[in-house]
Amino acid sequence: MSIDLTEETITAEVQKTFDGAVDERTREIFVKLVQHLQDFTREVRLTGEEWFTAVDFLERVGRLSSPTRQEFVLLSDILGLSVLVDQINHGEGSATDSTLLGPFYVEGRPHAENGADISGGVPGMPLFFTGRVLDSAGEPVAGAHVDTWHSDGEGFYNVQQADKLHGELAMRALLSTGGDGRFSFRSIVPRYYPVPTDGPCGEILRAARRSPMRPEHIHFRFHAPGHEPLVTMLFRRGDPYLERDAVFGVKRSLVADFVPHEAGETAPDGTPMTEPFQTVSWVFTLERG
Ligand SMILES: [Fe+2]
Repeated sequence: MSIDLTEETITAEVQKTFDGAVDERTREIFVKLVQHLQDFTREVRLTGEEWFTAVDFLERVGRLSSPTRQEFVLLSDILGLSVLVDQINHGEGSATDSTLLGPFYVEGRPHAENGADISGGVPGMPLFFTGRVLDSAGEPVAGAHVDTWHSDGEGFYNVQQADKLHGELAMRALLSTGGDGRFSFRSIVPRYYPVPTDGPCGEILRAARRSPMRPEHIHFRFHAPGHEPLVTMLFRRGDPYLERDAVFGVKRSLVADFVPHEAGETAPDGTPMTEPFQTVSWVFTLERG
């Protein structure tokens, strides 16, 4: 280990310490990380006070993070890292476009039968979703696991109102496609919403005078044996925030019609409706893997 390192010599010296890493990929990632992190530090002439602010910031992101409050995921989202990683790994192909997972996915969500009401009793305008999962050859994918989650009509996910909902998981479910690749559920119409700004990530958005808003959407995550997994979401056509999503996730191919219906019409599941409702239907394509 050399001593008397300078601004010019320290980077290579740190990089050398990864020569004996457990594998080549680990070595490559850390060598590049050190290179870019130190180049960045030299370039902006980072002050000690700014370094301390950054360390304190990350510590607070960590302290706030939990299985239901993914502040680190949100940090990655608002810096465009989540979408970049998705783009690098799922850039091209015949499958439905993917996009970021977002900070509100929760493991341990309830299973639901097709057609079930997954709103968890949260009040709102009824929404009927009918979907179909095909492979890249157009064949239906039976038994695919379909995760879905979305906000309520005021833009809040269930995990943001745990007290009000007594910790119940609402507006999210794990479904399975039938033999024809179809799946369906009833829930409530979501709404555009601000990403959480009461934590450290909110400080970045305020400092940048950035909008925290995300356009209205429904999240989906698909798993099926023999197929590539897919994480995506559908956005409502006409939403005012489509072109300025705080986390950069919108793709034209994922903009869907949320069709309004009047009271007195019949829902796709045959229910005669006494109140206005919306329907959305979509065909998702999974890449064979
Ligand atoms: Fe979301």
